Amino acid sequence: MIPQKALRPFPSRNRILLPLRLFLAITFIYAGIQKITDPQFFDPKAIGYIGKQLARFSVGSPIGGLMVHFVSHAALVGVAIILGEIAIGLGTLFGFLFRPAAFFGLILSLIFFLSASWHTYPYFYGADIVFIFAWITLILNGPLHSGYPTLDEYVIEPLVAHIPVQTQRQVAPIFALVLGINIVSNPDDITAMSTMPQYAIQQGAQGRYQQGQQMRVHNQHQRKQSQTARTRENRRNFLLGAFSGAIGGLAIFGFAALLFKDSQLATTGSTTGGTTAPASGTTTSSGNVIAQVSAVPTNSAATFTIPSNGDPGVLVHLNNGQFVAYDATCTHAGCPVSYDPTSQLLQCPCHGAAFDPAKNAEVVNPPASTPLTSVQIKVDSATGAITIV
Ligand code: FES
Repeated sequence: MIPQKALRPFPSRNRILLPLRLFLAITFIYAGIQKITDPQFFDPKAIGYIGKQLARFSVGSPIGGLMVHFVSHAALVGVAIILGEIAIGLGTLFGFLFRPAAFFGLILSLIFFLSASWHTYPYFYGADIVFIFAWITLILNGPLHSGYPTLDEYVIEPLVAHIPVQTQRQVAPIFALVLGINIVSNPDDITAMSTMPQYAIQQGAQGRYQQGQQMRVHNQHQRKQSQTARTRENRRNFLLGAFSGAIGGLAIFGFAALLFKDSQLATTGSTTGGTTAPASGTTTSSGNVIAQVSAVPTNSAATFTIPSNGDPGVLVHLNNGQFVAYDATCTHAGCPVSYDPTSQLLQCPCHGAAFDPAKNAEVVNPPASTPLTSVQIKVDSATGAITIV
C-alpha cells in the first residue's frame, strides 16, 4: 500500500497561481511604464496619442457612446490608465488589497476588450479576453494560497486583533467578500470566549466559573451565540456564493455577446488569417480600398481607418451622387463625428459641432471653428472600388 504522504501533489497547491499572479502583476506594471515612456501617448499630433486611440476604438464599440465623452479629456484618461495599471500590478505583486486589485484589473481588461479588442475576429485572437478570465481566477481565489504570501495576510491580522470580538463578527462578511479573508477562524471559540467574563479568563478561574447556576446560564448563552455564529457563517457563504455566481453569470453573458459579435462579423466580412477583410465598405479598410460603391447607398456613410495617421475616416455618399471623405476627428477636441442622414450633416456627439459634407465639411454649428480635414478618394467606375488617393 502506498503511504498517505506519497500521494501529496507536487508542487504544492499553494504554488499553482504563482505563474499567473506574477505574469499579470509584471504585465500591468510594464504596461503602465510603457505608456509613460511612449513619446506619442500624450502628443496630440502623434498617431499613438491617447485621444486618437479613444476616438478610433470608440467606432463600432458597444461602449463607444460613453468613450467619446472622454476624448476631450484624453490626457486625464491617459494618466488614470497609467496610474491604474501600475497600482493594479503592484497590488497583485505584493498582495496588498489583492482582491480589489484583481477586481479593477478585470474592469480595465473588460474596457479594453469592449473597445481596443472589440473588432478582433475570432474573439480569441485578442489578448484582453484572456486577461479577463485570468483576473476572474485571482478574484475567486483571493489572497490566500495565491502562489506566495500576500501583504494582506500580514497587515490584516494585527489590524483585526485591535477590533473588539463583537465587531469582528459583524465585519467578517465584508472582509470575506472584499478582501477574500475570513477573519473569524472559529466562530464557536470566539463565542465561548466572548461570553465568559473577563475576570474568569484573567485569573484562570474557568473551573469555578463552570459550576452551578452560572454554568447553566453560560451554556445557554453559548448555544444561542453558536447558533447566531452559524447563521452568520451561512450568510457569509451565501454572499460568497452570490458573488461567485455573479462572476460566472457575467462570464456567460460575455461569452454569449462574443458569439453574437462574431456571428455579426462573420456575416459582414470574411476572415483571412484571423483578421477581418474589408466588410463591403462598412467599417474597415484593406490597403487603400475603403468601400465598394454598392455598399454605400445615397445619403448614407461608411467608416474606415486612414492608413497614414490611424484616424477614423468617414465616407459620405451625398444626395447629388458624389462621394466625399473626411478625417472623422472633430476639429474641436477630437471626438469622432458621424453622419446624420436626417440633417445630412456630420455631427459631433461630444459638444454638438456640425459640419456640412457637401461644402468641404465647413462648420455649420460651433464650438468647432475649422472644417474637417478632407481625404482624397478615387471612385473606380469599372470595379466600383473607392480608394484613398
Ligand atoms: S469635440 Fe467638441 S464638438 Fe466635437
